[in-house]
Amino acid sequence: MRINKFLAEKGVASRRHADKLIEEGKVQINGKTATLGASVEDGDEVTVDGTPVLNKETKLLYYIMNKPKGYLTTASDDRGRKTVMELLPKGIDRVYPVGRLDYETEGLLILTNDGDLAYRLMHPKSEVPKTYLARIEGTMTEKDLNPLRSGVELDGVMTKKCKAHIVETHKLYTKVHITITEGKNRQVRRMFESIGRTVDLLRRVKIGSLGLSGLDRGGVRELTEEEVLYLKNL
Ligand code: URA
Repeated sequence: MRINKFLAEKGVASRRHADKLIEEGKVQINGKTATLGASVEDGDEVTVDGTPVLNKETKLLYYIMNKPKGYLTTASDDRGRKTVMELLPKGIDRVYPVGRLDYETEGLLILTNDGDLAYRLMHPKSEVPKTYLARIEGTMTEKDLNPLRSGVELDGVMTKKCKAHIVETHKLYTKVHITITEGKNRQVRRMFESIGRTVDLLRRVKIGSLGLSGLDRGGVRELTEEEVLYLKNL
């Protein structure tokens, strides 16, 4: 089988993206850098960026969840609190959350056993955009968001530039869409704290352009192949 077809079938990349990886010298077959058009035989060992492409037997699973607040994003809790694992379909326990949402934060969470994808989505270098809906106590203006857009100091380091805009104003609260490309601990809440504001509701609504589309609170479904491929190329 041609190497680009092999990589596409394994879900590593689209054929076109696979060709790019090959051209960049990132693909090896049995320890030798692969060339465009090379073929893969049964039993060949293929790596991309040094990571072995998984065997057929390991079924890769990808779920999207609308995490409710009051659930921990961990596999287990020694204090007996509810975890997102309890919301997965019965019998599915081999997937792990990609990154964390706070106990009090709700919204889009990916769970998978695909370590490469998890690593890529979480690595700061990938700069994957994550969009949150934050409800802020009191009223705010667009101008108040400027410090967040250009970067604020958290733990002595400036946050990267981000996008933020108001989506609803009310005399008691303001709703803001904020898109960040990092994933520091409690980043959105702390960014608002740094400008003297309190987030009283936080929901992740998107990773890239992947949204929650119709998933109710606590709902879970498998990602489609297109969605998986989309995330892999983010
Ligand atoms: N930012 C936060 O403050 N909390 C989260 O759970 C995610 C991003």
